[in-house]
Amino acid sequence: MDNNFESRIQNLVKSSLIPINIPNQFNLKYFNSAFSKLKGRESQLYDIAELFHENTKIRKYLAPEFIMSASLFDEDYIIESISRMERKIPTFANIPLPRSKLIKKPFSHAIRKRRSIREYEASKPLELNELSTLLYHSYGISAEMRTNFNQNIISKNLLTIPSGGGLYPLELYVGIVNGNNIDNGLYHYNYLKHHLDKILVKDFPNCLFSCFPIHPNGINMDTIGAVFIIVGIFLRSKMKYGSRSYRYVLQESGHLAQNLCVTATALNLGSIPIAAFFDDDVNKILNIDGVEEAAVYTVFTGHQKKNQGKT
Ligand SMILES: Cc1cc2nc3c(=O)[nH]c(=O)nc-3n(C[C@H](O)[C@H](O)[C@H](O)COP(=O)(O)O)c2cc1C
Repeated sequence: MDNNFESRIQNLVKSSLIPINIPNQFNLKYFNSAFSKLKGRESQLYDIAELFHENTKIRKYLAPEFIMSASLFDEDYIIESISRMERKIPTFANIPLPRSKLIKKPFSHAIRKRRSIREYEASKPLELNELSTLLYHSYGISAEMRTNFNQNIISKNLLTIPSGGGLYPLELYVGIVNGNNIDNGLYHYNYLKHHLDKILVKDFPNCLFSCFPIHPNGINMDTIGAVFIIVGIFLRSKMKYGSRSYRYVLQESGHLAQNLCVTATALNLGSIPIAAFFDDDVNKILNIDGVEEAAVYTVFTGHQKKNQGKT
């Protein structure tokens, strides 16, 4: 493994794999100064990612072993119990959600119009029915599959996102900053019942705001409607796929986030995925340990300011 991060990036620039239309000389100067800031993190961060990727490749000679151990989890009753697993969290209120809206906007419109929005309209709160539609479309139950197992009918929930082995390792939380017909606060989405569990958290929304290095993102968090937080419960997927499951958890969080962004666009709302957050702080407010369960991705949403949509 070549550990020379800097020269590898320089080669990438030279070979035009990073196509920046400015003189090469400048590129190298720019990258050199960026690398000097990264010094010390290089071996810890970059190499861990590379080692992880290498070590979680499915190689042909290992495939039979991988398939055999994974197939143990194809039993219907295991999938059923996992897909019906309810996330139990300490909550002091259950908030039923209205039925999700059937969105009639053309699908191509939502795909093409989605943009990361950084300016929001503080005077327009997120409505409860908008919240319900966002939650359902991004991580709701969209089908039930029934099979016969030892003369028992087994039914399994299928959600709006694809999931490796149907194991659904993700949980969805939402912090309401500016809502209508719903109190501001932190909630967990119970997709089995389509309701919200309210989580007790001190000093909301400041505790949520301080989880983000917000100024670099250029977003005024006071103006947004809500922050969705996607959490991975790693063992749910790991018990079948081993360390490779970490890839699946992140891939699935991308599916979920995309559903959120596209649904937001279809509802004429703005959204932006934000991966830059202080992990420990987010995990702390969610009361999760950051090891077995951890926040992996967030999405902000709200009513966007008129006449903007540029990234
Ligand atoms: C994985 C991921 C992480 C991101 N994290 C941030 C972030 O922390 N801050 C931010 O301002 N934008 C973030 N974005 C938004 C990107 O800047 C934006 O998607 C990109 O500029 C392309 O613009 P578009 O989304 O309007 O197509 C993120 C996007 C992705 C996919």
